Amino acid sequence: MTERLEDIANAMVADGKGILAADESSGTIKKRFDVIGVASTEDSRRDYREMMFRATEAMRNHISGVILYDETIRQKAADGTPLVELIRQTGAIPGIKVDSGAKPLPGFPGDTITEGLDGLRERLKDYYELGARFAKWRAVIDIDTAKGVPSATSIGSNAHALARYAALCQEAGIVPIVEPEVLMDGAHDLDTCFEVTKAALLKLYAELYAARVKLEGTILKPNMVISGKKSGRTDRAEEIAEKTVRLFRETVPVAVPGIAFLSGGQSDEQATENLNAINAIGPHPWKITFSYGRALQAAPQKAWSGKTENVAAAQAAFLHRARMNWLAAQGKWSPDLEKAASAA
Ligand code: 13P
Repeated sequence: MTERLEDIANAMVADGKGILAADESSGTIKKRFDVIGVASTEDSRRDYREMMFRATEAMRNHISGVILYDETIRQKAADGTPLVELIRQTGAIPGIKVDSGAKPLPGFPGDTITEGLDGLRERLKDYYELGARFAKWRAVIDIDTAKGVPSATSIGSNAHALARYAALCQEAGIVPIVEPEVLMDGAHDLDTCFEVTKAALLKLYAELYAARVKLEGTILKPNMVISGKKSGRTDRAEEIAEKTVRLFRETVPVAVPGIAFLSGGQSDEQATENLNAINAIGPHPWKITFSYGRALQAAPQKAWSGKTENVAAAQAAFLHRARMNWLAAQGKWSPDLEKAASAA
């Protein structure tokens, strides 16, 4: 395995491949399993993730890396093989979520600050030994303009924490994915999302410079510029693409090798269509790909539903979404391909 930060970061965004965000905390995966009627136990979580990592065609051809949760990076497959080893065997890179979640920011109702810096240096050392070569830290920024959310304090504190995390990762030989997620839950329009995301990214890169983080060895995981769910608006993919790319040109240094989106609550096909529209108006100075959780896993979760006899169908559903997003990361997706593939 390559060990230079730049090489790892470049491999994470190479050839249209993207990242599988399988780092749901035990609380979040329980919510996902509740939907499909599966009890969340150590074994069921292991079986589910093992099913994904053994989907060889999807993993080998379309997935560059997998973000794991603390429990999963230490787990073994049913036959005793470490799950990290299964991932490595497909050529994908194991990664680890290292933040401990977004907590209320005192004094700023509606804002959050992501915690997890204390003891991080030691935890990163441990994760490196377990095989992680990249990490993820997610800051959460909500929009509620009437209430003054987000505050400048929230944007600043989260950017500072992301920069401290990123510097610690690089010291440990681990590529930091920096994720300042502006939520799409609110009632805001596309232009408000543009302005808030712009403020968050400008602050983030100012803090990363100040912390002496080597941008060549980082990946940005942002939201797209999109209207909030409660706005009742559905934006055209072309408009999302045009504004998202304009925003990145104004804020993301070209030293950053890659941008890998979160899906954030978009439907599976929307997340693919929008990624495709963004790449279709390229070329861009960065690779632009996916680091999807829900938009890659909703279909396989449903197909699996906790049953051994459904493993092949679930792996096929995962392959389909991984392949569609791989095409979109190259600007080669079309709705026809989507239909042809799902009929196959
Ligand atoms: P979603 O794609 O489900 O938003 O999750 C990606 C992720 O890792 C958020 O931190």
